[in-house]
Amino acid sequence: MRVLITGGAKELGRAFSEVLGAQGHQLVITGRDENALRTAETELRAKGVDVEAHVADLGDPGATPKLIESLGEIDVLVNNGALGGPIGPTWQVDENEWWRTIEVNLRGTAFAANAAIRAMTSGRIINIVSNAGVHRWPYLTAYSVSKAAVIKLTENLAVELKRRPIAVLSYDPGMVGVGLMGRGCDVESDDPHVQRITQWARSQRDQGRFTPVEQSAGLLARIVSGEFDHRSGELITPADG
Ligand SMILES: NC(=O)c1ccc[n+]([C@@H]2O[C@H](COP(=O)([O-])OP(=O)(O)OC[C@H]3O[C@@H](n4cnc5c(N)ncnc54)[C@H](OP(=O)(O)O)[C@@H]3O)[C@@H](O)[C@H]2O)c1
Repeated sequence: MRVLITGGAKELGRAFSEVLGAQGHQLVITGRDENALRTAETELRAKGVDVEAHVADLGDPGATPKLIESLGEIDVLVNNGALGGPIGPTWQVDENEWWRTIEVNLRGTAFAANAAIRAMTSGRIINIVSNAGVHRWPYLTAYSVSKAAVIKLTENLAVELKRRPIAVLSYDPGMVGVGLMGRGCDVESDDPHVQRITQWARSQRDQGRFTPVEQSAGLLARIVSGEFDHRSGELITPADG
């Protein structure tokens, strides 16, 4: 299958690219960081993966849709690229940064999904979300609110697509030791709100609540294969693995 993974060159997105590439899927990966994209492309190709990398900023509403249009048919879109957003009391954080996070995480995801639906005959859209979209995550509200909105977007799109062979699923990959949560455990800061998040992330890790990244990527691969299409609209979590 031809699978487009936004943010597919780095961290959790890279783990998704690795497992999907190893299963023989044809990959298109995107992001902002051209160097990371070229490195991922080279390393994946060295493993025999059919992959092409493109710079496409999810903060630019037209960039990913334009790329999808230019690709012609794709079978699966994995809306993985996202920002963690500002940390702190909502009324104190930089409002531009707060809104930018909503734009990238919600508008970026929604407009990529729209373009994919227009380009697809059949297939699936997998929106990578988070526990933060289900439960309150104070001091990280742009992230939490954007992921909650994506979960609701998924539910609505699934109903609108009921008569077409296109499934839309939310996938919470669990807390993993790379990317946002991995960095969240490592960061050293004098900011009490950042410290609070770091302490919480470390306690989750130390209590064994992290999902091994291979397991998280393995479940994503099963969703990509169509195994969960009958649950279109729903949120899939590591518990479903
Ligand atoms: N790590 C976790 O424990 C965890 C838990 C639950 C959910 N998630 C979700 O998993 C996904 C990946 O998270 P991560 O932890 O790997 O985060 P990360 O390390 O911060 O990586 C974010 C990815 O998104 C891309 N990205 C960010 N802004 C972008 C933009 N404006 N346009 C295009 N691409 C952009 C980045 O690539 P560039 O820098 O090249 O743009 C990068 O590949 C996110 O949706 C996140 O919410 C992660």
